[in-house]
Amino acid sequence: MLILGIESSCDETGVALYDSERGLLAHALHSQVALHADYGGVVPELASRDHVRQCLPLLRSVLREAAVDRGEVDGVAYTAGPGLVGALLVGACIGRSLAWSWGVPAVAVHHMEGHLLAPMLEHPAPEFPFVALLVSGGHTMLVEVAGIGRYRILGDTLDDAAGEAFDKTAKLLGLAYPGGPLLAQLAQRGDPGRFRFPRPMTDRPGLDFSFSGLKTFALTTVQANGDDDQTRADIARAFEDAVVDTLAIKCRRALRQTGVGRLVVAGGVGANRALRAALQRMAREEGAQLFYPRLEFCTDNGAMIAYAGACRLQAGQSQGRAVEVRPRWSLEELEPVALSPP
Ligand code: KG4
Ligand code: ZN
Repeated sequence: MLILGIESSCDETGVALYDSERGLLAHALHSQVALHADYGGVVPELASRDHVRQCLPLLRSVLREAAVDRGEVDGVAYTAGPGLVGALLVGACIGRSLAWSWGVPAVAVHHMEGHLLAPMLEHPAPEFPFVALLVSGGHTMLVEVAGIGRYRILGDTLDDAAGEAFDKTAKLLGLAYPGGPLLAQLAQRGDPGRFRFPRPMTDRPGLDFSFSGLKTFALTTVQANGDDDQTRADIARAFEDAVVDTLAIKCRRALRQTGVGRLVVAGGVGANRALRAALQRMAREEGAQLFYPRLEFCTDNGAMIAYAGACRLQAGQSQGRAVEVRPRWSLEELEPVALSPP
């Protein structure tokens, strides 16, 4: 079964072709980072317009790369939420229209399901059940995954997502948008012993997160110590250490609480090296296995949507012809898929 996947929930247009027998055939991505950089954040209307411009050229390029004809596509998967409503509508309209004109089924994919299934595109792929840490610009979540569509949210952020906290603190340190990777770079030159930031909500039971206090902590540290180069690096280091430590503590807790021995990490912040090292140490101590998607599939992409869509289409799931998106949509509302993954 050959599935076209379209991702357009935020500031990246991703298109991919996944075949349930042959695996991933082609994928292409257009990042809008440069488009939004001057504004210090994603401008929704600009995002939507750019998805309109990019989607079909990317589709042509993946068809060419995979050397398949559009007539061979058996189904279309598109991100229907959560995300920016206008951006989602672009992918949904294009996906539905293509499916209708090609006479194939279309399936609405949950963006976070895409992220947490992304490691299934790698070898070895994790077996079910596993615990997933989803850490992106919009989400910070711990999810117990019993199977496809069988998700229990163990913990969520009460305020800023981890990536959002990285970006806001980076902005405060004078770094360009999106500042997460730049802050991580700056932190490498920082002295880990100079400042110590709190590890929010680790002193009480539970798996929820709260990261908004850390940027305030960074601000008061700048006000008290100035913002010379070394101080900025030291603050970046203290901030990164606090986020990484907090995520590792909660992941360890989630593994112990569920008795599950596999941890999957996905989402943009999953690209952070310090986080990867800390989780590796923790997993070794816990005797757990750790799985990541390849780096380019940590961030938003079409491949994860094509894969999640293939799982659902193979199980016979698809939606009617109406173009509907869900800017807010809980993972726990998804329908389970009975079949084993392709
Ligand atoms: O998953 P993603 O591409 O987009 C969504 O938010 O859905 O994640 C982007 C987020 C941004 O906040 C970015 O700053 C952060 O991931 N990020 C990082 C790193 N690479 C990306 N944060 C810290 N360290 C990194 N190396
Ligand atoms: Zn994402």
